[in-house]
Amino acid sequence: MPLHHQSEESSQLDITNVTLRRGPHTVFDQLTLHLNEPRIGLIGDNGAGKSSLFRMICGLDIPQSGTVTVRGLDTREVSSKRPGMVGMMFQNPDDQIIFPTVEEELALSLSPTGVSRKEALTQARAFLQTRGLSHWSARTIASLSQGQRQHVCWLALLVASPALMLLDEPFASLDLPGQARLHRDIAQASQQVIVSTHLLEHVNTFERVIWLDQGRVRGDGPGSDICAAYRADVLARATEPTPPEL
Ligand SMILES: Nc1ncnc2c1ncn2[C@@H]1O[C@H](COP(=O)(O)OP(=O)(O)O)[C@@H](O)[C@H]1O
Ligand SMILES: [Mg+2]
Repeated sequence: MPLHHQSEESSQLDITNVTLRRGPHTVFDQLTLHLNEPRIGLIGDNGAGKSSLFRMICGLDIPQSGTVTVRGLDTREVSSKRPGMVGMMFQNPDDQIIFPTVEEELALSLSPTGVSRKEALTQARAFLQTRGLSHWSARTIASLSQGQRQHVCWLALLVASPALMLLDEPFASLDLPGQARLHRDIAQASQQVIVSTHLLEHVNTFERVIWLDQGRVRGDGPGSDICAAYRADVLARATEPTPPEL
């Protein structure tokens, strides 16, 4: 599998010689990636390291060695120097949502912009109106389905509009109209967007897709090529006889 051209110059997002351990497990060992493209897909089996990569890019996990820089700024400094530059939509909505109602959750997203709580609530309601979802403003999160919560997580990211958006399996709980809407929103976003997914049709046309396999880059290139290679590999593994227990 040809590896994507790795520019030596500083990129929008640079992951350089990174080793990341989570508990006793080494997730990445000397991983290097330079990520410049406006749309990047991230694919690979469960446990491949997709969520870990996102957690590292948004500064939730700090690598034991190597560096991660966003727009030239180390992730250790991003939250203090450029709050709101990186935003993540979590794989599990319950890991992301903090507030009891939809409008409060969206208002929280706007806090890095420095607006008052009252203004943030006003902007959140106005945003919901533009999406035809005014009736969701005061809805409690507890009253929403899993797919609706995932939708709220996307809206919370979209209203805040960070320069770099990380979407971790954002389609997983969405119904088909919800998937189509999110697909369209991603296509229209002016920001850099990185999307992890098992639904390959959503990243198949991306200029760049990265296939992670046990923390290593197994494929890196145009979406159609990398998705086809991953599909073929999955198919080959699915038809292999189950190895005997050792
Ligand atoms: N909280 C954690 N503590 C220790 N190891 C973890 C934790 N979360 C994930 N891992 C391990 O890190 C590796 C990568 O997991 P993850 O990034 O969640 O993969 P993916 O998102 O591709 O399914 C896996 O081997 C997983 O078992
Ligand atoms: Mg994951």
